[in-house]
Amino acid sequence: MTTDFFNYQGDTLYCDQVPLAEIAARAGTPCYVYSAEAILARLRAYDEALAGLDHRICYAVKANSNLAVLALVARAGAGFDIVSGGELFRVLKAGGDPAGIVFSGVGKTAAEIEYALDQRIHGFNCESEAELALLDALAARRGVKARVALRVNPDVDAATHPHISTGLREHKFGIDMAEVEGVYQRASALGNLKLEGVSCHIGSQILDLDALMEAVGKMLALAGRLRAAGLPIRHLDLGGGLGVAYTPDARTPDPRAFAAAIRAQVEGHGLTLMLEPGRSIVAEAGVLVTRVLYRKRSPRKEFIVVDAAMTDLIRPVLYNAHHEIVPLRRTALGTVRADVVGPVCETGDFLARDRDVANVLPGDYLAVCTAGAYGFVAASNYNSRPRPPEVLVEGAAWRVVRARETFDDLVRGETP
Ligand code: LLP
Repeated sequence: MTTDFFNYQGDTLYCDQVPLAEIAARAGTPCYVYSAEAILARLRAYDEALAGLDHRICYAVKANSNLAVLALVARAGAGFDIVSGGELFRVLKAGGDPAGIVFSGVGKTAAEIEYALDQRIHGFNCESEAELALLDALAARRGVKARVALRVNPDVDAATHPHISTGLREHKFGIDMAEVEGVYQRASALGNLKLEGVSCHIGSQILDLDALMEAVGKMLALAGRLRAAGLPIRHLDLGGGLGVAYTPDARTPDPRAFAAAIRAQVEGHGLTLMLEPGRSIVAEAGVLVTRVLYRKRSPRKEFIVVDAAMTDLIRPVLYNAHHEIVPLRRTALGTVRADVVGPVCETGDFLARDRDVANVLPGDYLAVCTAGAYGFVAASNYNSRPRPPEVLVEGAAWRVVRARETFDDLVRGETP
C-alpha cells in the first residue's frame, strides 16, 4: 500500500518523512503510528468542499480518541461528536471547545447528561422520548435550555457489514421516520429543550454514495415537513459513515466528492449542515507496526506469527475486515500465501488469512495498513497483554503520544 502519507522511498516504508523502522526500533512493537498531515488533509478536504456553505464538521471521537489526535482536530477548528462522558472528558483534556461538541448515543446516562450540560456543550442528538424527558428535567434543574436534534432512523440500507449498519427500521438507533413529527412537536413543548434540528447516521464503511444520498433526500424532505408544520428547524446533521479503501483496488468516494454531493442537495435550504465523520478522517492516517516472531508451517498452512494480536486490532475477526499488510523493508524474497496470526490463544486471533504477503523472516517488521480508525480505541488487555503505544508523526518529527502499558497498568485498581 502506498498513499500520500505512507510511501516507500527505495525499499523502505516511510510515514511522511520518517522511516517506520526507526519508530519500530525505538518505540518497540506492536505500535500504532499516525500521520498528523494525513489527518489534517482529510479535515481540509471536507472543509474545502463545503466552503461558503454554513457547516460544521464534528469529528466522531470514537474512531480514534488519542489526546494528540483530538488536539490536532481542535486546532484545525473542527468540532466533535461524542458518545460518552469519557469521550467528553478526553475532548476537554485535549483543549476542545465545548461549544463545538454534539452528544450522540442511544443510552446516555443521567450522569453523562449532567456532565455535558455543566460543560455547556453545543447540543444533544436524542434518540427517544424517555431521553428527551430526562434531558428536559436535568436542564430545568440547572435553569438552562438544552439544544436538541432528533436522531431519525431514515430506513436506508447502508449495504455495509451488518454490525455497523444502523439505519434500518429494525435497528435500535434513532426515532422511526413515521413518528418523528409527533415526537418533535411534543418535545418542542418541553420548557427546557430547544429543538433545533434532525440528525441521522445510517452506518459505517459505506462505499455506496447512493445510499448516503438517499438518506440525505429523506432527511431534507423531513425538514420540509417539519417546517410546514410550523416547527423550528435550523440544522441537519447527516452523521458519518463514509468508507475508506481497505484494499488497493477499492473504489471509494473521497471526502471531497462526498461533501460536494451533499452540498448540492442541501444548499439553498437555509440549514446548517453538520457531519460526523470518523473513519474517513483517521483510518488511512494510521498503521499498526508489528514484528515477525516466528514462521511456522502446518501440513495445510503457512503461518506468520507476529507480536500484534486481535487485542491490538480486533477488526479482522470482528468484521471479517481486510487490512493490507506490507513489509517495512522490501526484499527480493517475494511473497508467500500465509495466515498472519498473533500470540493470543484464540483461533480468531488473526490479522489476515490466506493472504499473499511479503516472505518475511523472524525479526522483520510489517505494517498493518489503514488502522488509524477503530484500531487502538477497541484494543483490550485480553491475555493480560499491555496495550501498544501510539506515535504521532509530524513531518520529519515523531513522538510517543501514548506510552506502552506496563504490567503495573494491567493490575491498576485490582486487589488480591
Ligand atoms: N456518528 C455516529 C452517531 C456514529 O454512530 C458513528 C459511528 C459515526 C458518526 C462515525 O462513523 P464513521 O464516519 O467512522 O463511519 N467499530 C466499527 C465502526 C463502528 C462505527 C460506529 N458508529 C469498525 O471498526 O468498522
